[in-house]
Amino acid sequence: MTETVLPIVQAVEVSKTYFLGRLAVPALRNVSLEVAPGEFVAIVGASGSGKSTLLHVLGGLTRPTAGRVIIAGQEYGSLSDAARTALRRNRIGFVFQRFNLLPTLDAAGNIDLARHIAGRAAGDARWRDRLIELLGIGARLRHRPAELSGGEQQRVAIARALVNRPSILLADEPTGNLDSKNSAAVLQILSDLNRDLGQTILMITHNPAAAAVARRTLHLRDGEIVPDGPI
Ligand SMILES: Nc1ncnc2c1ncn2[C@@H]1O[C@H](COP(=O)(O)OP(=O)(O)O)[C@@H](O)[C@H]1O
Ligand SMILES: [Mg+2]
Repeated sequence: MTETVLPIVQAVEVSKTYFLGRLAVPALRNVSLEVAPGEFVAIVGASGSGKSTLLHVLGGLTRPTAGRVIIAGQEYGSLSDAARTALRRNRIGFVFQRFNLLPTLDAAGNIDLARHIAGRAAGDARWRDRLIELLGIGARLRHRPAELSGGEQQRVAIARALVNRPSILLADEPTGNLDSKNSAAVLQILSDLNRDLGQTILMITHNPAAAAVARRTLHLRDGEIVPDGPI
């Protein structure tokens, strides 16, 4: 008997075309993929191949022109705006190349705001504290982003993304703004989170060292998933 595991993320024949005036820019063409619980998947591809667009569509930040995206059994397209927002907040954590921390809040404030937005201000404080320890940012909680190194900012951003225990972490070039030492540290943390805690991760990268820590790699070229090979 084969066991079927519901994918956390499923894209079915997703296309996305941007329109610049009358100019159509196809960014994704017929992309289908599935990510199972506990997987660590890298998506690689040249600049302009559609990686960020794919992450935004999977994360419910951008609507596809065609096709369906299903997160933990719920299809964005069938949901009201409020339900789609709730799905995103409850199920998905985002990490971006530019960290995107709020500059006026310190590290603790950035992490706690994410809990607050999800309506769980009184929620799982022990998980928050564990994350802070795992990410090695306990001594930096009162620092604002400008008072943190890039690597520290990204670790705070990862804590913020995971504080509500999302089903999947979507990371867009998480090491893109880091030097090699901080890149390696962030990749090690993502790898540990996946291996030790079973955190499902979908990471976009064009850094081969980053792709190497993932357990499966998908290649995007000109908006299409292509068989493995040179990017
Ligand atoms: N908001 C937008 N409006 C118009 N075109 C866009 C927009 N965002 C991305 N594109 C285009 O879509 C294609 C894919 O971009 P993107 O998803 O950012 O690729 P990547 O992240 O792999 O560099 C590129 O041709 C890019 O110029
Ligand atoms: Mg990009």
